[in-house]
Amino acid sequence: MKKARSLSRGTRKKMPAHEEEMEPLEVQEGDSVAVREIHRLISSYHSFGDEDVATFRKNLLSWYDQCKRDLPWRKLASEEADLNKRGYAVWVSEIMLQQTQVSTVIAYYNNWMKKWPTLQDLSRASLEEVNELWAGLGYYSRGKRLHEGAQKVVSEYKGQMPHTAVDLQKLLPGVGRYTAGAIASIAYGQVTGVVDGNVIRVLCRARSIGADSGSPTVTDGLWHLANSLVDPHRPGDFNQAIMELGAMVCTPKVPLCAECPIKSLCRAYRQVEKEQATAFQRLMGKPTPKLNQSADIEECVANGQKCSLCLPPLDSWDSSLGVMNFPRKSAKKQSRVEQTLTCVLERKRESGEPEYLIVQRPTSGLLAGMWEFPSSLLETDLLLRKQEQALCKHLSTLSGITTSSTDLQRVGEVVHIFSHIHQTYLVYSLYVEKAQSALVKQEGPQLQPSRWVTMAEFHKSAVSTAMKKVLKMYENKNSAKMDTGKGNKRKRSPKAEAKSSPQLDRQLTLNKFFKPAP
Ligand code: ADE
Repeated sequence: MKKARSLSRGTRKKMPAHEEEMEPLEVQEGDSVAVREIHRLISSYHSFGDEDVATFRKNLLSWYDQCKRDLPWRKLASEEADLNKRGYAVWVSEIMLQQTQVSTVIAYYNNWMKKWPTLQDLSRASLEEVNELWAGLGYYSRGKRLHEGAQKVVSEYKGQMPHTAVDLQKLLPGVGRYTAGAIASIAYGQVTGVVDGNVIRVLCRARSIGADSGSPTVTDGLWHLANSLVDPHRPGDFNQAIMELGAMVCTPKVPLCAECPIKSLCRAYRQVEKEQATAFQRLMGKPTPKLNQSADIEECVANGQKCSLCLPPLDSWDSSLGVMNFPRKSAKKQSRVEQTLTCVLERKRESGEPEYLIVQRPTSGLLAGMWEFPSSLLETDLLLRKQEQALCKHLSTLSGITTSSTDLQRVGEVVHIFSHIHQTYLVYSLYVEKAQSALVKQEGPQLQPSRWVTMAEFHKSAVSTAMKKVLKMYENKNSAKMDTGKGNKRKRSPKAEAKSSPQLDRQLTLNKFFKPAP
């Protein structure tokens, strides 16, 4: 494993102790000859000159020093002396922060670090425990990969974290180019840039990059830009600062340009200022030059060739959007639409406390190893009634009860959006007497593991947010029934139920319920 070299002592200010040991890497790793050729072709309009680079670093870092949020992983990254603990602390934070907001991550991060303060502690945990702690954070494969990564570092690298972006990306599961750059710079002081959603927004606005921000050319240009901007004396702080700027000031909607420390270097902001000046002149009755609707295309001279980073000419700058003209992204791929039948199976414990049956999902694929109410995917070409019967059969196999589809009560629909699936759960409920369900089948190799849990146990288990929504809807429906005095009539047919309560009928959207999936 290659180690990051130590920083030469120079004119740097206020640096976390650990960064004192590091030295900038002179060559940007990963820059192949072909990549360098692309960079040569990128117009200087989309990059920064030396003076601007210095101003960018200075302004951004002094803003960060004054305005940064006090976040638990930042404290660990700057105060933890043990290199492996420090790398691990940053790794956990960066994985949790992917696709999840800082405000949500804080509590999960603190719980995680309290339970598993070191790589060794995490490596000894079970996937079940990891999923339990991750429950509600979403994108569950992130926790699984982190767990696998910790086991790998402990078993294959004697507990020693890789220190460079190249090694981190190569050796750790779930660590891509962004996470590797973040860990290497923040924990180990390697001079390497990062590009995440926030950085994309800041740089696309600052340098008027209007071509599709997900395209390979733009991605490549942004990495090059990030690597050329990163401060060699405070790479970790610089990377956190540019992400912080994207999160707090250069936001997707309602950006706070007046507060931006790098607005003097921002081409999008300059365009807005120009337009405002022109509008003002016009208001004063002065002759004004025609507004330049595609400023960047005209200003950009990309080595005499068409520029691959500019806004496409057909729909260039929209004045009503201001700096929000950037970044541009091609339309997202459509999500898969699915419907799933799911049943809250309830019975009472000896004590009278209700409990619910949950089953475990397979250990690979979507929501790997998580627990859910017995469920089955709706097949669009089969009648709903047939599928309700199949669900009953599934319930019988799991719990030992015998039931038919007319015993199922319809509760309503829960919609949950996964990254690539638009999932609608058709929620049913079934109450069973203890005696009926006493003969719980033993788990076999072909059967999903299952268990009965109380409400409190359910919330402590590794259940997804979607299942928490399902239980909430079930509880709401039960309390509505209690309020209307229908609490113990559990076995009425759905039709009778809907008839007797028009309000519930609306809530249940039964029409929708019968509609086959589109
Ligand atoms: N987003 C992801 N990681 C971050 C960090 N370390 N600081 C600010 N925003 C982030």
